[in-house]
Amino acid sequence: MAFNLRNRSLLNMQDFNPRDIRFLLDLSAELKRAKYAGNEVAKLNGKNIALIFEKTSTRTRCAFEVAVHDQGGHVTYIDSSSSQLGRKESLKDTARVLGRLYDGIEYRGFHQSMVEDLAQYSHVPVWNGLTDEFHPTQVLADLLTMEEFGEKPLSELSFCYLGDARFNMGNSLLIGGTQMGMDVRIAAPRNLWPAAELVEKMRRLAETTGARIMLTDDPQAAVKGVDFIYTDVWVSMGEAVEAWGERIALLKAYQVNTALMLASGKPRTRFMHCLPAYHNLETETGRKIHEQFGMSELEVTDQVFESDASIVFSQAENRMHTIKAVLVATLA
Ligand code: CP
Ligand code: NVA
Repeated sequence: MAFNLRNRSLLNMQDFNPRDIRFLLDLSAELKRAKYAGNEVAKLNGKNIALIFEKTSTRTRCAFEVAVHDQGGHVTYIDSSSSQLGRKESLKDTARVLGRLYDGIEYRGFHQSMVEDLAQYSHVPVWNGLTDEFHPTQVLADLLTMEEFGEKPLSELSFCYLGDARFNMGNSLLIGGTQMGMDVRIAAPRNLWPAAELVEKMRRLAETTGARIMLTDDPQAAVKGVDFIYTDVWVSMGEAVEAWGERIALLKAYQVNTALMLASGKPRTRFMHCLPAYHNLETETGRKIHEQFGMSELEVTDQVFESDASIVFSQAENRMHTIKAVLVATLA
Protein backbone atom coordinates (compact mmCIF):
# COMPACT_ATOMS: atom_id res chain seq x y z
CA MET A 1 0.00 0.00 0.00
CA ALA A 2 1.27 3.53 -0.73
CA PHE A 3 0.95 6.51 1.58
CA ASN A 4 1.31 10.08 0.57
CA LEU A 5 4.22 11.66 2.41
CA ARG A 6 4.56 14.59 0.02
CA ASN A 7 5.77 17.84 1.62
CA ARG A 8 6.37 16.17 4.96
CA SER A 9 9.48 16.87 7.04
CA LEU A 10 11.49 14.20 8.86
CA LEU A 11 12.73 15.85 12.04
CA ASN A 12 12.37 12.92 14.39
CA MET A 13 11.31 9.28 13.88
CA GLN A 14 8.07 10.20 15.65
CA ASP A 15 7.07 12.36 12.66
CA PHE A 16 6.30 9.15 10.76
CA ASN A 17 3.98 6.43 12.01
CA PRO A 18 4.68 2.69 11.60
CA ARG A 19 2.76 2.60 8.30
CA ASP A 20 4.80 5.51 6.91
CA ILE A 21 8.03 3.82 7.98
CA ARG A 22 6.91 0.53 6.38
CA PHE A 23 6.23 2.44 3.17
CA LEU A 24 9.65 4.13 3.28
CA LEU A 25 11.47 0.85 3.90
CA ASP A 26 9.66 -0.83 1.00
CA LEU A 27 10.42 2.14 -1.24
CA SER A 28 14.09 2.00 -0.16
CA ALA A 29 14.30 -1.67 -1.14
CA GLU A 30 12.64 -0.90 -4.49
CA LEU A 31 15.04 1.98 -5.21
CA LYS A 32 18.00 -0.18 -4.19
CA ARG A 33 16.93 -2.93 -6.60
CA ALA A 34 16.39 -0.40 -9.38
CA LYS A 35 19.86 1.06 -8.89
CA TYR A 36 21.43 -2.40 -8.94
CA ALA A 37 19.42 -3.37 -12.03
CA GLY A 38 20.36 -0.12 -13.78
CA ASN A 39 16.76 0.90 -14.37
CA GLU A 40 16.28 3.64 -11.78
CA VAL A 41 13.84 6.33 -12.86
CA ALA A 42 14.78 9.89 -11.85
CA LYS A 43 11.94 11.53 -9.91
CA LEU A 44 13.74 14.63 -8.63
CA ASN A 45 14.48 16.32 -11.95
CA GLY A 46 14.67 20.08 -11.45
CA LYS A 47 14.65 19.83 -7.65
CA ASN A 48 17.19 21.87 -5.70
CA ILE A 49 18.20 20.70 -2.27
CA ALA A 50 20.25 22.51 0.38
CA LEU A 51 22.49 20.48 2.67
CA ILE A 52 23.39 22.33 5.87
CA PHE A 53 26.13 20.79 7.99
CA GLU A 54 27.05 22.53 11.24
CA LYS A 55 28.88 19.34 12.27
CA THR A 56 31.16 17.20 10.11
CA SER A 57 29.93 14.20 8.12
CA THR A 58 31.03 11.55 5.67
CA ARG A 59 28.05 9.18 5.27
CA THR A 60 25.13 11.55 5.63
CA ARG A 61 26.49 14.18 3.30
CA CYS A 62 27.59 11.65 0.66
CA ALA A 63 24.33 9.68 0.96
CA PHE A 64 22.28 12.84 0.32
CA GLU A 65 24.51 13.95 -2.56
CA VAL A 66 24.49 10.57 -4.32
CA ALA A 67 20.77 10.04 -3.72
CA VAL A 68 19.88 13.45 -5.18
CA HIS A 69 22.24 13.00 -8.11
CA ASP A 70 20.83 9.54 -8.91
CA GLN A 71 17.36 11.05 -8.92
CA GLY A 72 18.22 13.95 -11.21
CA GLY A 73 18.25 16.79 -8.65
CA HIS A 74 20.93 19.25 -7.52
CA VAL A 75 22.47 19.99 -4.13
CA THR A 76 24.22 22.91 -2.49
CA TYR A 77 26.47 22.12 0.47
CA ILE A 78 26.46 24.79 3.18
CA ASP A 79 28.60 24.78 6.30
CA SER A 80 28.93 27.35 9.03
CA SER A 81 32.52 28.32 8.12
CA SER A 82 31.73 29.26 4.52
CA SER A 83 28.25 30.79 4.90
CA GLN A 84 26.67 33.53 7.00
CA LEU A 85 24.80 30.98 9.12
CA GLY A 86 25.33 31.43 12.84
CA ARG A 87 27.83 34.31 12.83
CA LYS A 88 26.10 36.92 10.67
CA GLU A 89 22.66 35.47 10.06
CA SER A 90 20.22 33.68 12.32
CA LEU A 91 18.79 30.28 11.50
CA LYS A 92 15.34 31.86 11.22
CA ASP A 93 16.52 34.30 8.54
CA THR A 94 18.56 31.60 6.78
CA ALA A 95 15.46 29.38 6.73
CA ARG A 96 13.40 32.10 5.06
CA VAL A 97 16.08 32.66 2.42
CA LEU A 98 16.66 29.00 1.64
CA GLY A 99 12.93 28.31 1.60
CA ARG A 100 12.61 30.78 -1.30
CA LEU A 101 15.34 29.04 -3.30
CA TYR A 102 15.23 25.35 -2.50
CA ASP A 103 12.65 22.58 -2.65
CA GLY A 104 13.94 20.90 0.51
CA ILE A 105 16.64 21.29 3.17
CA GLU A 106 18.76 18.77 5.06
CA TYR A 107 20.10 20.00 8.40
CA ARG A 108 22.81 18.58 10.68
CA GLY A 109 23.57 20.50 13.83
CA PHE A 110 23.22 20.72 17.55
CA HIS A 111 19.83 21.31 19.14
CA GLN A 112 16.67 19.69 17.88
CA SER A 113 14.94 23.08 18.21
CA MET A 114 17.11 24.36 15.35
CA VAL A 115 15.91 21.78 12.84
CA GLU A 116 12.36 22.43 14.05
CA ASP A 117 12.76 26.19 13.53
CA LEU A 118 14.17 25.55 10.08
CA ALA A 119 11.08 23.55 9.14
CA GLN A 120 8.77 26.16 10.62
CA TYR A 121 10.31 29.15 8.83
CA SER A 122 11.41 27.68 5.50
CA HIS A 123 8.01 26.20 4.57
CA VAL A 124 9.71 23.40 2.60
CA PRO A 125 10.36 19.80 3.71
CA VAL A 126 13.29 19.60 6.15
CA TRP A 127 15.17 16.38 6.93
CA ASN A 128 17.16 15.96 10.12
CA GLY A 129 20.67 14.77 9.22
CA LEU A 130 21.54 14.47 12.96
CA THR A 131 21.01 16.61 16.01
CA ASP A 132 22.13 15.99 19.58
CA GLU A 133 18.75 14.42 20.29
CA PHE A 134 17.89 12.44 17.14
CA HIS A 135 19.32 10.80 14.02
CA PRO A 136 16.24 9.56 12.16
CA THR A 137 17.74 8.92 8.71
CA GLN A 138 20.34 6.66 10.35
CA VAL A 139 17.64 4.58 12.02
CA LEU A 140 15.74 4.14 8.76
CA ALA A 141 18.94 2.67 7.26
CA ASP A 142 19.38 0.49 10.34
CA LEU A 143 15.85 -0.88 10.10
CA LEU A 144 16.36 -1.74 6.42
CA THR A 145 19.67 -3.43 7.26
CA MET A 146 18.12 -5.44 10.10
CA GLU A 147 15.33 -6.58 7.83
CA GLU A 148 17.81 -7.62 5.12
CA PHE A 149 20.13 -9.55 7.44
CA GLY A 150 17.50 -10.79 9.90
CA GLU A 151 15.44 -12.30 7.06
CA LYS A 152 12.33 -11.96 9.20
CA PRO A 153 9.77 -9.21 9.77
CA LEU A 154 11.13 -6.52 12.09
CA SER A 155 8.50 -7.42 14.69
CA GLU A 156 10.20 -10.82 15.06
CA LEU A 157 13.70 -9.38 15.46
CA SER A 158 15.59 -8.10 18.48
CA PHE A 159 18.46 -5.70 18.98
CA CYS A 160 20.46 -4.41 21.91
CA TYR A 161 21.95 -0.94 21.88
CA LEU A 162 24.86 -0.49 24.27
CA GLY A 163 26.64 2.72 25.25
CA ASP A 164 25.56 6.33 25.55
CA ALA A 165 21.81 5.81 25.27
CA ARG A 166 20.70 9.35 26.15
CA PHE A 167 22.00 10.88 22.91
CA ASN A 168 20.83 10.82 19.27
CA MET A 169 21.38 7.12 18.47
CA GLY A 170 19.98 5.69 21.70
CA ASN A 171 16.87 7.87 21.46
CA SER A 172 16.24 7.21 17.77
CA LEU A 173 16.78 3.45 17.96
CA LEU A 174 14.40 3.28 20.92
CA ILE A 175 11.76 5.13 18.91
CA GLY A 176 12.28 3.29 15.60
CA GLY A 177 12.41 -0.16 17.22
CA THR A 178 9.27 0.56 19.24
CA GLN A 179 7.40 1.86 16.21
CA MET A 180 8.20 -1.32 14.29
CA GLY A 181 7.17 -3.61 17.14
CA MET A 182 10.66 -4.97 17.80
CA ASP A 183 12.30 -6.47 20.86
CA VAL A 184 14.29 -3.38 21.93
CA ARG A 185 16.97 -3.60 24.57
CA ILE A 186 19.15 -0.84 25.93
CA ALA A 187 22.18 -1.55 28.08
CA ALA A 188 23.83 1.46 29.68
CA PRO A 189 24.64 2.91 33.09
CA ARG A 190 21.45 4.44 34.47
CA ASN A 191 22.64 8.02 34.06
CA LEU A 192 23.07 7.38 30.31
CA TRP A 193 19.58 5.99 29.73
CA PRO A 194 17.18 7.89 27.46
CA ALA A 195 15.08 10.51 29.26
CA ALA A 196 12.37 8.97 31.45
CA GLU A 197 9.70 10.92 29.57
CA LEU A 198 10.73 9.38 26.22
CA VAL A 199 10.91 5.89 27.72
CA GLU A 200 7.43 6.31 29.20
CA LYS A 201 6.07 7.51 25.86
CA MET A 202 7.66 4.53 24.08
CA ARG A 203 6.26 2.10 26.66
CA ARG A 204 2.78 3.45 25.90
CA LEU A 205 3.41 3.18 22.13
CA ALA A 206 4.69 -0.38 22.62
CA GLU A 207 1.23 -1.37 23.87
CA THR A 208 -0.10 -0.69 20.37
CA THR A 209 2.86 -1.85 18.24
CA GLY A 210 3.67 -5.01 20.22
CA ALA A 211 7.24 -3.88 20.92
CA ARG A 212 9.04 -5.16 24.01
CA ILE A 213 11.35 -2.68 25.75
CA MET A 214 14.11 -3.58 28.18
CA LEU A 215 16.39 -1.10 29.90
CA THR A 216 19.17 -2.48 32.03
CA ASP A 217 22.67 -1.74 33.25
CA ASP A 218 23.67 -5.39 32.77
CA PRO A 219 25.25 -5.80 29.31
CA GLN A 220 25.49 -9.61 29.37
CA ALA A 221 21.84 -10.08 30.36
CA ALA A 222 20.73 -7.53 27.76
CA VAL A 223 22.30 -9.27 24.77
CA LYS A 224 20.97 -12.75 25.55
CA GLY A 225 19.31 -14.14 22.42
CA VAL A 226 19.49 -10.90 20.40
CA ASP A 227 19.79 -10.77 16.61
CA PHE A 228 21.77 -7.51 16.54
CA ILE A 229 24.23 -5.87 18.91
CA TYR A 230 24.55 -2.15 18.22
CA THR A 231 26.89 0.47 19.61
CA ASP A 232 28.00 4.04 18.92
CA VAL A 233 30.86 6.32 19.97
CA TRP A 234 31.05 7.06 23.69
CA VAL A 235 31.52 10.81 23.18
CA SER A 236 29.52 12.38 20.37
CA MET A 237 30.18 15.31 18.07
CA GLY A 238 29.74 18.59 19.88
CA GLU A 239 30.48 17.14 23.33
CA ALA A 240 33.49 18.40 25.30
CA VAL A 241 36.70 16.36 24.90
CA GLU A 242 36.91 16.44 28.69
CA ALA A 243 33.97 14.02 28.69
CA TRP A 244 36.19 11.14 27.54
CA GLY A 245 37.64 10.28 30.96
CA GLU A 246 34.27 10.04 32.67
CA ARG A 247 32.64 8.26 29.71
CA ILE A 248 35.38 5.62 29.45
CA ALA A 249 35.01 4.86 33.15
CA LEU A 250 31.23 4.57 32.75
CA LEU A 251 31.16 2.61 29.50
CA LYS A 252 34.20 0.32 29.57
CA ALA A 253 31.99 -2.55 30.72
CA TYR A 254 29.72 -2.01 27.71
CA GLN A 255 32.44 -2.43 25.07
CA VAL A 256 31.35 -4.76 22.28
CA ASN A 257 34.02 -7.45 22.28
CA THR A 258 34.07 -11.13 21.39
CA ALA A 259 32.94 -12.17 24.88
CA LEU A 260 29.89 -9.91 24.61
CA MET A 261 29.06 -11.19 21.12
CA LEU A 262 29.23 -14.75 22.49
CA ALA A 263 27.00 -13.78 25.42
CA SER A 264 24.11 -13.48 22.95
CA GLY A 265 24.21 -17.27 22.77
CA LYS A 266 23.30 -17.10 19.08
CA PRO A 267 25.82 -18.02 16.38
CA ARG A 268 24.38 -15.48 13.92
CA THR A 269 24.14 -12.35 16.06
CA ARG A 270 25.34 -9.43 13.93
CA PHE A 271 27.27 -6.36 14.94
CA MET A 272 26.01 -2.89 13.99
CA HIS A 273 27.42 0.63 14.37
CA CYS A 274 26.29 3.88 12.77
CA LEU A 275 29.98 4.82 12.25
CA PRO A 276 32.48 6.39 12.51
CA ALA A 277 33.90 3.93 15.08
CA TYR A 278 36.98 3.87 17.31
CA HIS A 279 38.14 0.29 16.85
CA ASN A 280 41.89 0.80 16.30
CA LEU A 281 44.62 3.47 16.35
CA GLU A 282 44.15 4.63 12.77
CA THR A 283 42.42 7.88 13.75
CA GLU A 284 43.82 11.01 15.37
CA THR A 285 41.24 10.90 18.17
CA GLY A 286 41.84 7.17 18.68
CA ARG A 287 45.56 7.83 19.15
CA LYS A 288 44.98 10.74 21.54
CA ILE A 289 42.65 8.63 23.69
CA HIS A 290 45.22 5.85 23.66
CA GLU A 291 47.95 8.20 24.86
CA GLN A 292 45.74 9.55 27.62
CA PHE A 293 43.83 6.46 28.75
CA GLY A 294 45.79 3.51 27.35
CA MET A 295 42.84 2.00 25.44
CA SER A 296 43.55 1.13 21.80
CA GLU A 297 39.95 0.20 20.96
CA LEU A 298 36.94 1.81 22.55
CA GLU A 299 33.24 1.05 22.00
CA VAL A 300 34.04 -1.99 19.82
CA THR A 301 37.13 -4.16 19.46
CA ASP A 302 38.87 -4.42 16.13
CA GLN A 303 38.20 -8.15 16.16
CA VAL A 304 34.42 -7.70 16.29
CA PHE A 305 34.45 -4.74 13.88
CA GLU A 306 36.37 -6.75 11.27
CA SER A 307 34.52 -10.04 11.89
CA ASP A 308 32.00 -11.73 9.59
CA ALA A 309 29.32 -10.73 12.09
CA SER A 310 29.90 -7.06 11.33
CA ILE A 311 27.37 -5.48 8.96
CA VAL A 312 28.46 -1.87 9.44
CA PHE A 313 29.26 -1.17 5.80
CA SER A 314 25.88 -2.49 4.68
CA GLN A 315 24.33 -0.03 7.13
CA ALA A 316 26.47 2.73 5.61
CA GLU A 317 25.34 1.83 2.08
CA ASN A 318 21.72 1.72 3.19
CA ARG A 319 21.97 5.33 4.35
CA MET A 320 21.86 6.27 0.67
CA HIS A 321 18.95 4.03 -0.35
CA THR A 322 16.81 5.08 2.61
CA ILE A 323 17.61 8.80 2.27
CA LYS A 324 16.69 8.48 -1.40
CA ALA A 325 13.35 6.99 -0.41
CA VAL A 326 12.69 9.86 2.02
CA LEU A 327 13.51 12.42 -0.70
CA VAL A 328 11.40 10.71 -3.35
CA ALA A 329 8.46 10.23 -0.97
CA THR A 330 8.47 13.77 0.38
CA LEU A 331 9.44 15.71 -2.76
CA ALA A 332 8.70 13.85 -5.96
N1 CP B 1 26.50 7.69 10.63
C1 CP B 1 26.68 8.96 10.24
O1 CP B 1 25.80 9.81 10.37
O2 CP B 1 27.89 9.21 9.67
P1 CP B 1 28.47 10.64 9.27
O3 CP B 1 28.73 11.37 10.56
O4 CP B 1 29.73 10.33 8.52
O5 CP B 1 27.47 11.36 8.43
N1 NVA C 1 26.32 9.81 18.40
C1 NVA C 1 27.18 10.11 17.27
C2 NVA C 1 26.53 9.63 16.01
C3 NVA C 1 27.37 9.83 14.78
C4 NVA C 1 26.68 9.35 13.54
C5 NVA C 1 27.44 11.60 17.22
O1 NVA C 1 26.50 12.38 17.41
O2 NVA C 1 28.60 11.99 17.02
